[in-house]
Amino acid sequence: MRALITAGGRGTRLRPLTHTSNKHLIPIANKPMIHYALEAVATAGIRDVGIVLNPDTGEEIRQALGDGAAWGLAITYVMQEAPLGLAHVIRAAEPFLRREPFVFFLGDNVVVGGIRQFVERFQARGEHGHLVLAQVRDPQRFGVAEVRGGQVVRVVEKPACPASNFAVTGIYVYDTPIFEAVHAIQPSARGELEISDAHQYLIDHGFRVGFSEITGWWKDTGKPEDLLEANRFVLDQVLDGTGPEIRGAVDAESDVAGKVVVEAGAKVIGSQIRGPAIVGAEAVVERSYIGPFTSLGRRCVIRNSELEYSILFEDTQILDVDVRIERSLLGREVVIRRGNSRPKTQKFILGDQSTIELC
Ligand code: G1P
Repeated sequence: MRALITAGGRGTRLRPLTHTSNKHLIPIANKPMIHYALEAVATAGIRDVGIVLNPDTGEEIRQALGDGAAWGLAITYVMQEAPLGLAHVIRAAEPFLRREPFVFFLGDNVVVGGIRQFVERFQARGEHGHLVLAQVRDPQRFGVAEVRGGQVVRVVEKPACPASNFAVTGIYVYDTPIFEAVHAIQPSARGELEISDAHQYLIDHGFRVGFSEITGWWKDTGKPEDLLEANRFVLDQVLDGTGPEIRGAVDAESDVAGKVVVEAGAKVIGSQIRGPAIVGAEAVVERSYIGPFTSLGRRCVIRNSELEYSILFEDTQILDVDVRIERSLLGREVVIRRGNSRPKTQKFILGDQSTIELC
């Protein structure tokens, strides 16, 4: 069994963060999002992994993941020259997949609890396809499945009137008929070869498509609030429940409580940290408050400020800000600080498509 993981896409809804970085490298609990997919396939006992890139941001992913040895994986990079849909991704990866069964994993899906059980179920039942489903409140954002008698009987891509609340997540297991399906289907109204149409082709041609329901936690991280939620969930689940893990320095005046990781070389001075939270390597938190569900990247500096439920990438600084910053996503080398000059005005230097909310 091989695995194919997508790492292309333009991440338009995550701009400006995706102007300078591939969406799949955005940190969730201080780890690039795509690491979670790699860990999940490695834990399922899969070794050969194809990573699908687009020409614009592919090099950054190659640099970040290398040959996959860090995860005990052997990575092959596959280029998708144009964004023509997920079924087209499978077509582009055919030489790597060698017409063998495989797991298809969308790299922007974060799932807690691994995927091994889905692969085992697919194998035990001898299915031709296996879709991982999750009950959601907004199924019209997803491929939507109708199920009967343990089988998927219909799949529709982003229906205006969903027939169920079962979203098809970005985790699929296939036997070889999927190759026939991705060649037989036609582009949709948006000009893409839809993965949902390939699934419907399997069903219509008598192939057995089974499913598993994710009862744990899963998120398709399309929008900024999804990233914050994924960060919240992963921090809560992944951090050890036994209390703070201090590899850096915390002074006697500070109060660090709950699931908190203070990485090597980080300094916490006269501050309060309420977990779950991570203070990245060599970061400095001084006379500040860091509230739950916050990830501070490497070398961030928080001074005389309050911060909660946020993700800060590397080398970002919040200095002497006297309103609490919350639900914020700050990229690399961002600086937010109080100005001291007169007249007392707000000043901004923001890149394209930035968002700022003042109170
Ligand atoms: C894709 C699939 C959709 C699926 C979703 C899961 O949609 O087309 O069927 O439900 O991934 O993440 P996209 O996120 O590309 O719009």
